[in-house]
Amino acid sequence: MSTTHPSADGEHTHTSIEDDVVDPAHIDNLSHETRRFAPSPTFADAAFAKADMYEDAESDRLNFWSRQAERLSWTKRWDDILDWSNPPVARWFTGGELNVAVNCLDRHIDNGLGDRVAIFFEGEPGDTRSITYTQLHAEVCQAANALEALGITAEDRVAIYLPMIPEAVVAMLACARIGAVHSVVFGGFSADALASRINDAGAKLVITADGGFRRGKELPLKPIIDEAVQSTPSVENVLVVKRTGGEVSFNDIDIWWHEALAEQPAAHQAQSFDSEHPLFILYTSGTTGKPKGIFHTTGGYLTQAAFTHAAVFDLKAETDVYWCTADVGWITGHSYVVYGPLANGATQLMYEGTPDTPHKGRWWELIEKYGVTIFYTAPTALRTFMKWGDEIVAAHDLSSLRLLGSVGEPINPEAWMWYREVIGGNKAPIVDTWWQTETGAIMISPLPGVTATKPGSAMRALPGIAVDVVDASGDTTPNGTGGYLVLTKPWPSMARGIWGDPHRFVDTYWQRYEKQGYYFAGDGANRDLDGDIWLLGRVDDVMNVSGHRISTAEVESALVSHPRVAEAAVVGAHDDITGQGIVAFVILRGQSKEDSTTIGEELRKHVVHEIGGIAKPRHIMIVEELPKTRSGKIMRRLLLDVAEHRALGDVTTLADPTVVQLIADGMTNNDED
Ligand code: WTA
Repeated sequence: MSTTHPSADGEHTHTSIEDDVVDPAHIDNLSHETRRFAPSPTFADAAFAKADMYEDAESDRLNFWSRQAERLSWTKRWDDILDWSNPPVARWFTGGELNVAVNCLDRHIDNGLGDRVAIFFEGEPGDTRSITYTQLHAEVCQAANALEALGITAEDRVAIYLPMIPEAVVAMLACARIGAVHSVVFGGFSADALASRINDAGAKLVITADGGFRRGKELPLKPIIDEAVQSTPSVENVLVVKRTGGEVSFNDIDIWWHEALAEQPAAHQAQSFDSEHPLFILYTSGTTGKPKGIFHTTGGYLTQAAFTHAAVFDLKAETDVYWCTADVGWITGHSYVVYGPLANGATQLMYEGTPDTPHKGRWWELIEKYGVTIFYTAPTALRTFMKWGDEIVAAHDLSSLRLLGSVGEPINPEAWMWYREVIGGNKAPIVDTWWQTETGAIMISPLPGVTATKPGSAMRALPGIAVDVVDASGDTTPNGTGGYLVLTKPWPSMARGIWGDPHRFVDTYWQRYEKQGYYFAGDGANRDLDGDIWLLGRVDDVMNVSGHRISTAEVESALVSHPRVAEAAVVGAHDDITGQGIVAFVILRGQSKEDSTTIGEELRKHVVHEIGGIAKPRHIMIVEELPKTRSGKIMRRLLLDVAEHRALGDVTTLADPTVVQLIADGMTNNDED
């Protein structure tokens, strides 16, 4: 995908390169890993999910899911388990009715568990709160009443732009309680990125905070909202949580969250919604510059989020202290901080800040302090800690940990072994969980009490889930070779579409294997000789930086929106810590004599302004030309060779084969952080 400068009429022109997809069959990554780690007999005996769960699901898949749905409280039972008469839009538990917030709160209180702690909150500055299910329920009821008082109904969308504080959970559950669709936007996105998401969803209300604490500083959010709402005509009000107490400007549409809640009773009569009522929209990067609003519905989503949270993490709700380090701005935060754990009545830790504030042992200190038993994080964090050194970890007692999870990107065997030995004390099983915003919940993962795991492999599809690894024509690849990961049967928490763009939903995920009716995940995978799955990363133009999805086209669009940029091409180059790092090749407009470091720095800032800090290029290289085929397509694979300092691949199809060598000669090793 290359992006040229906006043409005279202001339109961005995108040229797509269909043949630029990496063919995973060519990736020589078949692991020769022979180590196996079976759970201890004690762990296996006590496990929630036993080996017979696979056969059980296999023998009658739909009834298996129906039994999982029975774990929830429904006010009206479903008529049919699955309606797949209109693919690719599935309908699960049709005719059933339930309320998500009631499932996450009220029913636990009704079961006598109101005094159980739902959330231990630890702010970055060290402030703490422990919130029981009864207290969380009261706050959610007040918030639900406050939203209704502002005229929000089950027909509306609410944007949530908050730090990792309990109010984020309260806001999401309050929306769910009244049937309003929430769209959480990660607090690291810029005003522009936020405004485009608010506009795409047509959100009527924004819930935000004055700011949050990050890296020992106050990180203001309110000014970003103030800028965003300048261009969001649908927004009628902004609810502002007071978190930092910093100075904020208040406008006509702004209301303090605490004042709005204080006026409301702590009880709220919840209504049930149809199983297919939309629950939330979450934007994620695709292969074009425009993020996709993936939307999920109620009954199927909650069923699979709750089931996987119980089975994959082997949750013992009475005794476990669970901690998922993901931000609620990502799908992992939705399914495994909010909906899965709360539907299961879990006790969890929520931490606001960064792992190195005020010192590099903060996470391990928290695990010791709260006696965390189940810990779920991303490989990029593990690799960072590996770099910081084992002494930092060794200073803390982590013996409470009994299960470890990984998500977001492939975990390399070294990081996996470090996780097992240094964090898990060689006893806690590791579950490497593969899934996506679109799948809503975990799809491929070991069952911790059953699977003998291999370092670096996500192993097998969960019971009730059907995956395959296929070649370009959709045929199953033999064990021992690579191919494309597909999901071959509908699953309860699958996305029901892209908000406002049903065609894009079909084009992106379903067209490629239309004949077979498979969902194309966009990931390459190998199945080893035992049939276990090793994920290889994306096969499209989506980068994975620290477990965050960013498309090359999004960054290219941001770059060409700068007046000095004529053309830009972006690649995700290998990075030992973050998985991939963003490297941009930029052609400037007109003659320039200025220092390329200065303009490079300015362009990096520009990308941060346009998208947010997560998209900041690691390196920007100013070039005279980009390598193009004779038909004018940019050869990004060659740019990747350059960015990764590799010998150049085949250049014979280039219009001017010398261009890429010139770029390579100019590429210095001084990549920025
Ligand atoms: C990648 C995050 C390898 C993958 C839950 C996928 C993984 C994308 C794993 C989805 C894993 C996620 N091993 N790769 N265990 N988990 N991925 O939507 O490329 O933010 O397509 O969802 O992350 O990212 P998303």
